[in-house]
Amino acid sequence: MAPLILRPTSPAHGGTAVARDEGKVWLVSYALPGEVVEAEPRGRQGGVAVAATTRVLEPSPHRVAAPCPYFGTCGGCQLQHATYTHQLDLKRQVVAEAWARAGLRLPPDAAVLGMEDPWRYRIRGEFEAVAEARGWRFGFHRMRSHAVLPVDSCAIHDERIERALPAFARAANELRLTGLQNLLLTVEPAGRGLLWRLRENSKGWLHDEYAHRVAELLPDAALLDDAMSLDFWDMTFRVRSDTFVQTNYRQMLVLYRAALDMLQPMPEERVLDLYAGIGTISVAVARGCRSVTAVEENPRAVQLGRLNARINSARVEYLPGKVEDVLRGVRLGQHDAVILDPPRAGCEPAAIAELVRLGAGRVVYVSCEPSTHARDIAALVRGGYRVRRAAIVDMFPQTYHIESVALLERS
Ligand SMILES: C[S@@+](CC[C@H](N)C(=O)[O-])C[C@H]1O[C@@H](n2cnc3c(N)ncnc32)[C@H](O)[C@@H]1O
Repeated sequence: MAPLILRPTSPAHGGTAVARDEGKVWLVSYALPGEVVEAEPRGRQGGVAVAATTRVLEPSPHRVAAPCPYFGTCGGCQLQHATYTHQLDLKRQVVAEAWARAGLRLPPDAAVLGMEDPWRYRIRGEFEAVAEARGWRFGFHRMRSHAVLPVDSCAIHDERIERALPAFARAANELRLTGLQNLLLTVEPAGRGLLWRLRENSKGWLHDEYAHRVAELLPDAALLDDAMSLDFWDMTFRVRSDTFVQTNYRQMLVLYRAALDMLQPMPEERVLDLYAGIGTISVAVARGCRSVTAVEENPRAVQLGRLNARINSARVEYLPGKVEDVLRGVRLGQHDAVILDPPRAGCEPAAIAELVRLGAGRVVYVSCEPSTHARDIAALVRGGYRVRRAAIVDMFPQTYHIESVALLERS
């Protein structure tokens, strides 16, 4: 069979590029818009044919050699073959396209805030355990597969996480542990703390012996299995493995700054923080306003959020539960502004309806998924809001993931 020759023209969400060939649409991985590539069909994804680049016939001027030896096999990164500046351009195009599909126009002055050094940014990593002939190792899922690819390095994680992996594997081997599933590691940005959680289904799990041996193997780290500290802007937060934390600490500061600049909380105002997690945004906002009401469904995050509010002497009150339910009990006129940061799925229609009913003057919407961000913003616009500003904050360099934030005002 003749090789498939494709000419991708635009970026698609997911790190692929869109090509059309004799009327058929392809999503091509490891190709850049403007290139001519030889590609191999790889089935379908969401009803669209997928292909992987096998040879680049005419490279883009934005193409670089991916530095990671696992790139192309590992499911973690999709964009290492593009210069970082181009990655940011591609992300902007993907967001503009998502907004256009929702009937919106991304404000032309929407900034794209990238990193000075787009590597070693992750302070949290989740690794799958795999038993090999020579013992346990940790790695990532392979691209579009549940099979595990063991890794010795990962250049988007904090180096302390990379260095810790062999210690966790070696201790498991020495203690002849069985049934390891996955390992979650989070490092303190400014301290020695290394928070760990190992999921396993072994009989006779030796937690204390294991922790002791790992600690011996990692003398520079303070091994923690309960909570660690996350400090920024003179505030301190307790973080646990079972609660959300922004994985890119350096860009978290950029994102929160951008969101606060949009929100502009005033001293007499009361603010709603929806999908509040452990309260990092709530506490930061509360420093500039009268009070914050935080809504969060994860009871562990609510517990930690209340503690974080106390530690920082912040006027934050938690309403536990789902945003779409809790907002029904919130009275009109109680809040002047809203900030929200839902997971990828975005808001339930009932949550948007409640936001429209409450009609706060300003809504700052932070999102990690452009399609649901645009969908929900369009619904808010139909409910009487206008988009005032938007920004893209690159929280996930080398990968297709995109974080964006928008300010809406009641028109
Ligand atoms: C992306 S995190 C944002 C956390 C926080 N704003 C931060 O920056 O650390 C989303 C949070 O929403 C919570 N969540 C998800 N669905 C929810 C819902 N329907 N109602 C309330 N909270 C929800 C999750 O538990 C998680 O803590």
